[in-house]
Amino acid sequence: MKILVTGGLGYIGSHTVVALMEKGHEVVIIDNLSNTSLDVLEGITRISGKSPEFHKVDIRHKSELSNFFEEHKDVAGVIHFAAFKAVGESVEKPLEYYENNVAALVYLLKEMAILKHPKFIFSSSCTVYGQADKLPITEDAPVKQATSPYGNTKQINEEIIKDHINSGADLQAISLRYFNPVGAHPTALIGELPIGVPQNLVPYVTQTAAGIRSELKINGNDYPTEDGTCIRDYIHVMDLAEVHVVALEKLLKEDYREKYDVFNVGTGKGNSVLDVVKTFKKVNQLKLPYSIRGRRPGDVVAAYADTTKAEKNLGWKARRSMADALKDSWKWQTKQI
Ligand code: NAD
Ligand code: WQD
Repeated sequence: MKILVTGGLGYIGSHTVVALMEKGHEVVIIDNLSNTSLDVLEGITRISGKSPEFHKVDIRHKSELSNFFEEHKDVAGVIHFAAFKAVGESVEKPLEYYENNVAALVYLLKEMAILKHPKFIFSSSCTVYGQADKLPITEDAPVKQATSPYGNTKQINEEIIKDHINSGADLQAISLRYFNPVGAHPTALIGELPIGVPQNLVPYVTQTAAGIRSELKINGNDYPTEDGTCIRDYIHVMDLAEVHVVALEKLLKEDYREKYDVFNVGTGKGNSVLDVVKTFKKVNQLKLPYSIRGRRPGDVVAAYADTTKAEKNLGWKARRSMADALKDSWKWQTKQI
C-alpha cells in the first residue's frame, strides 16, 4: 500500500515513516523543510535500510499539491502531520497558523478527491480538551474554548474533516488526539529537533543535563496536585508512531464502521514535572539542576488520557514506559553535541 506522509521529516512524522516501513508499507513523504532538514531522511534510511520517496512540497501551494497528486493517484492512505505547532508563536502570528494548519488542510482534502476511497489519519491534540472537568480524559469530554490560535486550529481541523465526510465525500478518517509525545528512536538516528530555546519540558531537561541550559525552571509548584507541579501523560514517540500504522491499517483492511472517528493517544498515566525530573536523573544517572518559578500562563493543571477506546476499537496500547522515553531522549541529546 502506498502511504503519503505529509510533514514526514518532522519529529513525529519521521518516527511514523520508520514504523510504516517496518510493516512493509511503501512510503512517500512530502515536507517543505520549514522545521526540519534532509538529514532526517538520511536517519530514516539508515534505520530502515531503504530510502522512502521524498518530494519537497509546500502544502500551502495548491499547484504543488495538485501536481503531486496527478503523479501519485495510487496513494491509498494519507497521514497528515504537516503543520506549525508552537503555541506561543501562534499567538504572535495567528494568520500564519491559520494558513498553514487550516487553509492547507482544505487544499489537501480537495486534492485528495483524485484518489480512490482514500483513508486519512489526522494529528490532533489533547489541547482540544483544555482543562478537562474529569480525569482521565475520555474522547467524549467537551472540547473547551481554545486558549491559543494553535489550539483553535486543531479544533477547526477536526470540524473540517467531519463536515467534509458528512457531506458525502469519498473519505474515511481518524483524528488522533496526542497527549505529550517524548523520546526518540532507540538508535538515536532520529529524534526531536527543537529550534532555539525549547518551550517543552523534555527537550529543556535534556539540554540542561547536557549543559546547554544552566538549570530547568519549573513553572509553578503550588498547583493542587500531590507535589504541586502539573501533571501530563508522556507517551514515547515510537508508541505514538505505531498507533498511526495500526489506525491506518484498520481503515485499509477492515470494514471499520465509523466514517470518522477520534481517539486519545496517551499511556493513561499521569506524571508530574517533578516525576519527570526524578525519573530522568535516575535512569540516566545524571544531575539536573532546577529551580521553581511562577506558573506559566494558560497551563492546564492535569491532563492524562483514558485509553479504553483505542484499546477496544484499535487493539492498541502504549508499550513503552516514561523511563524508556527519557533514556532515548538523553541518548538522542548526546548525539547532538
Ligand atoms: P514538526 O514541526 O517536527 O513536524 C512538522 C513537519 O511538517 C516539519 O517537518 C515541517 O517542515 C513540515 N511542514 C510544516 N508546514 C508545512 C507545509 N506547509 N508544507 C509541507 N510541510 C510542512 O512537528 P511534530 O512535533 O512532528 O508534530 C506533527 C503534528 O503533530 C503537527 O500537526 C502537530 O500539531 C501535531 N502534534 C504535535 C504534538 C507535539 O507535542 N509534538 C502534540 C500534539 C499534536
Ligand atoms: C509540560 C509541563 C509546563 C517547560 C504543549 C502544548 C500542547 C501540546 C503539547 C501540541 C507543563 C512544564 C515546561 C519548562 C516547565 N502540543 N514546564 N519548565 O504544556 O502539556 O503542552 O505541548 O499539540 O499544545 O501546549 O507540554 O512540555 O510544554 O509542558 O516546568 O521549561 O512542564 O509548565 O506543566 P504541555 P510542555
